[in-house]
Amino acid sequence: MRIDPDGRWIAAAMLAGALAACGGGEPEPVPADEAGLTRVEVLGKRLFFDASLSVPPGQSCASCHDPALAFSGNNGATAGVALGADGHSLGLRNTPTAMYARFAPAFGMEDTDEGPIPVGGQFLDGRAASLEAQAAQPFFAPDEMNNPAVAALTTKVAAASYADLFRDEWGARVFDDPDTALKAIAASIAAFERTERFAPFSSKYDHVAAGRAQFTALERQGLDLFLDPEKGNCAACHVADPTSRNPADSLFTDFTYDNLGVPRNARIPANADPAFFDLGLCGPKRAAPGGDEALCGAFKVPTLRNVGKRVALMHNGFFTQLRDAVAFYATRDTDPARWYPGGVPFDDLPPAYHANVNRSEAPYDRKPGESPRLDDAEIDAIVAFLGTLTDGYGASLAAQAQPPARRQAAKTTAAR
Ligand code: HEC
Ligand code: HEC
Repeated sequence: MRIDPDGRWIAAAMLAGALAACGGGEPEPVPADEAGLTRVEVLGKRLFFDASLSVPPGQSCASCHDPALAFSGNNGATAGVALGADGHSLGLRNTPTAMYARFAPAFGMEDTDEGPIPVGGQFLDGRAASLEAQAAQPFFAPDEMNNPAVAALTTKVAAASYADLFRDEWGARVFDDPDTALKAIAASIAAFERTERFAPFSSKYDHVAAGRAQFTALERQGLDLFLDPEKGNCAACHVADPTSRNPADSLFTDFTYDNLGVPRNARIPANADPAFFDLGLCGPKRAAPGGDEALCGAFKVPTLRNVGKRVALMHNGFFTQLRDAVAFYATRDTDPARWYPGGVPFDDLPPAYHANVNRSEAPYDRKPGESPRLDDAEIDAIVAFLGTLTDGYGASLAAQAQPPARRQAAKTTAAR
């Protein structure tokens, strides 16, 4: 058995050794994409990519969280939201990237100068406390992997090619009780989601911060606009510290929640009902913390790392072009007719909740007819800067990542 420099088991090598010891002849070669993973991480990876675990078979976690799209994507759907295993069901939401998700703290209320605000959690409404709690859910969502019951899933895993490895990790009797097996499945997947391939910190941005690369003039201008509180003010929520040598100080989110008033996406089937609204923190998939209706319409601030790989943007996938999403920030209030049919703003919120939309913070603190905080050239610069956040520019700098510096969450979620 080998141990790599970090003291971790090289699980695949162990497996090959075990097979050889059983008289299996030639040791199986370690699949290149499993080298360096621990046994539980290998299991998580195999589960994550196992398309036999849906009903009907054909969909895995990776169908929607495609590694070629920075672990996001919508399973080929162009409606802006994800397509289910049944081949026709469209969900309510655009698939977020699973990258850097492990940095989200558990959902909770955090004290700020302006009172407690919600922070953290998995899903766009934070309703799962941890990666483990999250990973157990898509298997059973009717518009996702569509298993009718826990046992329907765990029987398939018990018959999978990696079932023996699973028993080695979790105990010979792990499959006796479906709920025990499900916990082990979710824990394995979460372990895989905590590996470096979900947080390589290998973008141009990271390499510039480490002094190993340089921005172009346009990218540098975009970064300055991104940080400037009077211009983009983007870092107020998409937190970044380009002066830090710790790449985890630039997760491009503080995991808080905000209400942007994103236009309604008519391609979402549920939206055919004019009385239906996806209100994020206050439902339909959870109840508002403390029953606070000021939170209705707020969604989690997404990381902007790898945003250039997104097939759709915002919780409802309304935008398909990154430039449009950035231009929306600049001109939502100065030129609402550009974004909302008939020029009536905030058409994806019931009128009672229009006051929840953030209208007090730059860049969205303008009035119709005023000049936007960002002009067209400045929008182009920010888009160029966002292009530097795509991983794979250079070597992984994950070894330099420390827990992010403790900082106060951005002050506003919904307007109060
Ligand atoms: C049919 C597409 C689809 C499949 C299959 C799918 N997901 Fe997702 N995933 C989504 C969508 C959509 C969301 C956001 C849902 C919401 O906010 O309510 C999401 C959210 C997540 C998140 C939270 C990310 C964040 O920033 O909050 C993680 C992690 C995740 N999925 C992992 C998984 C895992 C693990 C599997 C397999 C067990 C899986 N997903 C299967 C579409 C999918
Ligand atoms: C006050 C907080 C706040 C500020 C300031 C802010 N954002 Fe956001 N951003 C959010 C939230 C919240 C969302 C998700 C909204 C939703 O889905 O309804 C978001 C979503 C996005 C998305 C879509 C990402 C995806 O994966 O779907 C992009 C792109 C983006 N922001 C870029 C920017 C840029 C560029 C700026 C500065 C011009 C900026 N943001 C300023 C809170 C903020």
